[in-house]
Amino acid sequence: MKLLISLVVLLVVIGSTNACDTYGQKCVKVGSPCPNPSVDPFTTCEEGSFCYYGKSPTSTSSGNCTAFAVVGEYCDGSQTSNTICAPGLSCYTGSDSPNTCQFGDYAAIGESCDSSFSCINNNDCVNGKCQLRAAANGKCNDAWSDCAFGYSCNTTSNACIPTLTSGAACNVPGLTQARCAVGLVCSPVTTERLNYTCVPVNSKGPGAACASQVASFSLDGSFPSLECDVSQSLLCLLNNGNYTCQTPPAVSTGNCSATACQSGSTEFCSCPVDSWTGTCTQYNTLGADCSKAFNALAKCAVDNKCQIYAGSPNYKSCIYQHCSSDMCGGDACVPTSSNQGCGESQYAGCHSYSSSSFVRPTTIFIALIALLLSLI
Ligand SMILES: *[C@@H]1O[C@H](CO)[C@@H](O)[C@H](O)[C@H]1NC(C)=O
Ligand SMILES: *[C@@H]1O[C@H](CO)[C@@H](O)[C@H](O)[C@H]1NC(C)=O
Ligand SMILES: *[C@@H]1O[C@H](CO)[C@@H](O)[C@H](O)[C@H]1NC(C)=O
Ligand SMILES: *[C@@H]1O[C@H](CO)[C@@H](O)[C@H](O)[C@H]1NC(C)=O
Ligand SMILES: *[C@@H]1O[C@H](CO)[C@@H](O)[C@H](O)[C@H]1NC(C)=O
Repeated sequence: MKLLISLVVLLVVIGSTNACDTYGQKCVKVGSPCPNPSVDPFTTCEEGSFCYYGKSPTSTSSGNCTAFAVVGEYCDGSQTSNTICAPGLSCYTGSDSPNTCQFGDYAAIGESCDSSFSCINNNDCVNGKCQLRAAANGKCNDAWSDCAFGYSCNTTSNACIPTLTSGAACNVPGLTQARCAVGLVCSPVTTERLNYTCVPVNSKGPGAACASQVASFSLDGSFPSLECDVSQSLLCLLNNGNYTCQTPPAVSTGNCSATACQSGSTEFCSCPVDSWTGTCTQYNTLGADCSKAFNALAKCAVDNKCQIYAGSPNYKSCIYQHCSSDMCGGDACVPTSSNQGCGESQYAGCHSYSSSSFVRPTTIFIALIALLLSLI
């Protein structure tokens, strides 16, 4: 989830000097100064912009809010420059033309593409569809993105093989590399975790065995491999050595800036704007609405034959092109109280980031021209 990721970045910057995991934000307009988060973690640049700290910033330097470059605009390909592509866009650095921000790396095998830049894993774009790159000699090596929907890569034989159906044995040691189909998850039959079968995502009841702890999730460009039934407010959590579907512990009370949240894996410490008094907040709002959104997204991905890979925050990806109504406009699984960012309530893939999306002040144009001139 973009918000939490950006806040994790903040956390890394801020280190362990205090115990807020997220900070309520005051939003600063493009062209205005922005403080370094190590000095003031409560201020962020408005949506569509980032804080540019200059060419050789110190750990406390302040910067200026600078608009992201949008589709077709110049980017220099460096993450420390002032020409950074908007989230979901990549800097296309073809040798034939100047670098520009483009949608890239979003299409799996069989999905529509404009050029090979669209295809994940350097695959080829032939007649408007991604196909396995010629250099691979017919051998896949990435589980999902090198095979069409309905198939996954057997990374032992390097051949695409059909995905498994509900109830099929999966994760059999040394025997098969077949994956459960999109919409299913490979889950253990008992807590000893000797045998696994493919089960529908979001389906296992209280006390059922599960494979791995998923303590927080979002619906940003993919749906997570949740085994436990979210409508019953269950998550897969470790309890005395066994992973089972459980109700997460009740949210901790008290000032978490002073005493950390008791259940660090399912909750985080959220501090309001300009306050160091934190409140523990659960990462996810479980229950009927989250479950409905989750199932709708899973069904939409299957109906539209969207191959699921590591999640794409990209507007042009199959899942955003077909299923954005299930992801954009508020994620039913993420509490609104955790959404303290500046217009970050929607994921990057919810925006087209076309050049009409943002109004860019003249100063930025001047800076851009100056930069271009300095390169000549
Ligand atoms: C921010 O803008 C001010 C005023 O235009 C300028 O003096 C300063 O150098 C800029 N800082 C950075 C990091 O570009
Ligand atoms: C995957 O490839 C290995 C090696 O060729 C083979 O032994 C195994 O049966 C294959 N799995 C499936 C499900 O095809
Ligand atoms: C964990 O699972 C094992 C085997 O299923 C069982 O013997 C053990 O009692 C379980 N531990 C707890 C705390 O439930
Ligand atoms: C569990 O898996 C093993 C192979 O790992 C297999 O021999 C055994 O028959 C399986 N048991 C069940 C109940 O499916
Ligand atoms: C909560 O803890 C922080 C850090 O110790 C402290 O600065 C703040 O004043 C505390 N808030 C209250 C209401 O005690």
